[in-house]
Amino acid sequence: MRKNALRTKLCEMLDIEYPILLAGMGGMGGPVAGPELVAAVSNAGGLGILGCAFLPPNKIEEMIRQTRKLTDRPFGIDTVLPAEAPQTGTTAEMRAEVPAQHSEEADVIPEIMQELELSVPKERTQRSLSDAADDTVFTGDLFKEEIEIILEYRVPVYAAGLGDPGPYMDDFRKRGIKVIGVVGHTRSARRVAKSGVDIIVAQGRDAGGHTSRIGTIALIPQVVDVVSPIPVVAAGGIGDGRGLVASLALGAVGVWCGTIFLATPESLYEDYQKQSIINASEDDTVVSRVITGKEARIYKNSLAAAWAKRGLPTLPMPLQTMVVLPILDAAFEARRADIVPTPAGQISGIVHELKPAGKIVEEMVESAHQVLEEFWRMKPA
Ligand SMILES: Cc1cc2nc3c(=O)[nH]c(=O)nc-3n(C[C@H](O)[C@H](O)[C@H](O)COP(=O)(O)O)c2cc1C
Repeated sequence: MRKNALRTKLCEMLDIEYPILLAGMGGMGGPVAGPELVAAVSNAGGLGILGCAFLPPNKIEEMIRQTRKLTDRPFGIDTVLPAEAPQTGTTAEMRAEVPAQHSEEADVIPEIMQELELSVPKERTQRSLSDAADDTVFTGDLFKEEIEIILEYRVPVYAAGLGDPGPYMDDFRKRGIKVIGVVGHTRSARRVAKSGVDIIVAQGRDAGGHTSRIGTIALIPQVVDVVSPIPVVAAGGIGDGRGLVASLALGAVGVWCGTIFLATPESLYEDYQKQSIINASEDDTVVSRVITGKEARIYKNSLAAAWAKRGLPTLPMPLQTMVVLPILDAAFEARRADIVPTPAGQISGIVHELKPAGKIVEEMVESAHQVLEEFWRMKPA
């Protein structure tokens, strides 16, 4: 067997050994992909990406410093740049306006709480999701501050998980930072390609978190075709060497994986969330707008079902989160695995145990080589 048959153009571009990227995973209570997980993937020869979506700049700064203590390998940062965000204001101000401006949706909350047997917590054993929400960033001004920290620290890779990093491209270039645009269809792929990103992640419907309407296997070759020669990385439903080799066959130069790294000691999911992933089969996730207002794939969730049953529309990002926050808050405090949103993809079914992230990378590389060896043994009849 060749020593490393997986060395693609992506490895050269990012100075990594294997074309395996840890997806940037943020979360409602804080990041899921934090310094420990990122460092574990980078130290194993892949590229870890910190999930910094909606985090205030000082928190991002802290995470960069912690990561640098844990690895001297390259790593990246993912934030989101939703076009619909207001330019100024605070999350607390936006949250305060919700009951008056969206009374129909706000009025249904007590009824759903009763149905789900949830009550407003009398005491707290952990920081509330509402407090965490107030610390999050949802204005154009603050997204810019997030980017400024990334520029200042010259983090080697920046990923825009949502939206177009175009306005910042010159600044990234000047500092030698490689830029990734994450897309879910060819329209947005063309847009970020025009902005000059270095790499495009094409994320299909199978993925955990905000998801595309197009299945991964159909999406990848189409994005590859429209953005060539920009390298494309495949995402959504990739969890082992078989998925990695299949992605390369579809024209991608690597993979961006989220779900497979959730049930690891290093991920910042709560233990009950990790257990949900371990217990899940391939059809235990649902796609719902109930948490963020955008379609997101999450582990099956009673709030999504209760909302769908009422036929209520959802509000745009970030208002939907603010409306359902009292429910999420109570569920989070009560550690209700059936209600706390647990973004996860359809590949959850191959996760059967808690496993260190470095071992996942190692096994993915090993099994990809085995698949390739099988192919090399195939001879024309
Ligand atoms: C728990 C979780 C949180 C996520 N948060 C983000 C995020 O903050 N920003 C982002 O660009 N993508 C986010 N995603 C999507 C991932 O970046 C990635 O595209 C997806 O996990 C790939 O599909 P897979 O889960 O099947 O591996 C998240 C996914 C999960 C599972």
